[in-house]
Amino acid sequence: MNRVLIVYYSRSGATRALAAELAAKLGADMAAIKEPRSRIGVSGFLRSMLETVRGTLPPIEPPHVDLSAYALVLLGTPVWAGRAASPMRSFLRMTARSLPPTAYFCTYGGSGHDTAFQDMARRQGQRPLATLAVRRRELPPERHADALEAFLTRMAPARQRGAPVEAARHHRAHQE
Ligand SMILES: Cc1cc2nc3c(=O)[nH]c(=O)nc-3n(C[C@H](O)[C@H](O)[C@H](O)COP(=O)(O)O)c2cc1C
Repeated sequence: MNRVLIVYYSRSGATRALAAELAAKLGADMAAIKEPRSRIGVSGFLRSMLETVRGTLPPIEPPHVDLSAYALVLLGTPVWAGRAASPMRSFLRMTARSLPPTAYFCTYGGSGHDTAFQDMARRQGQRPLATLAVRRRELPPERHADALEAFLTRMAPARQRGAPVEAARHHRAHQE
């Protein structure tokens, strides 16, 4: 199993694409936050906007993963109304206490990424080790390469801190 997990929510695929790029770079496991109800079309858009503004926490199908098994969890969301998407907020409500150190990433159209990250940190009750915000039009990897490298560099100590645990486990297994 990998030491880094990426948990993301994506309505229209942009955040999923960034999550996949990060997973390939980090050799990380990936898990999507899914929902019982679709958000496609105009009604889905309006519901998303309303939930975010009102602070409604929609029901979600959280990924079946053992968060405590990871040294680092990356949380990815689109920006909705200058906040984290409501399904990511639901995920944070369910898991905030059991999350290992985190880093955040988001995709967005033009503004609101800073307030979205603040929203997540408040709900998690902890600050992330690093953040990465990518505009939708800068999704092609060559257009955000520098920001992504800086993000990976800021997370490096946490990824390495995880390693001795794995090494110790491996060592113990060999002694037993
Ligand atoms: C309901 C809703 C609200 C949004 N609000 C914002 C916003 O406040 N600021 C912004 O820059 N983009 C906003 N967007 C655009 C999305 O953040 C952007 O398209 C994002 O890349 C979508 O990610 P996804 O494809 O993973 O769902 C909004 C999109 C939706 C559906």
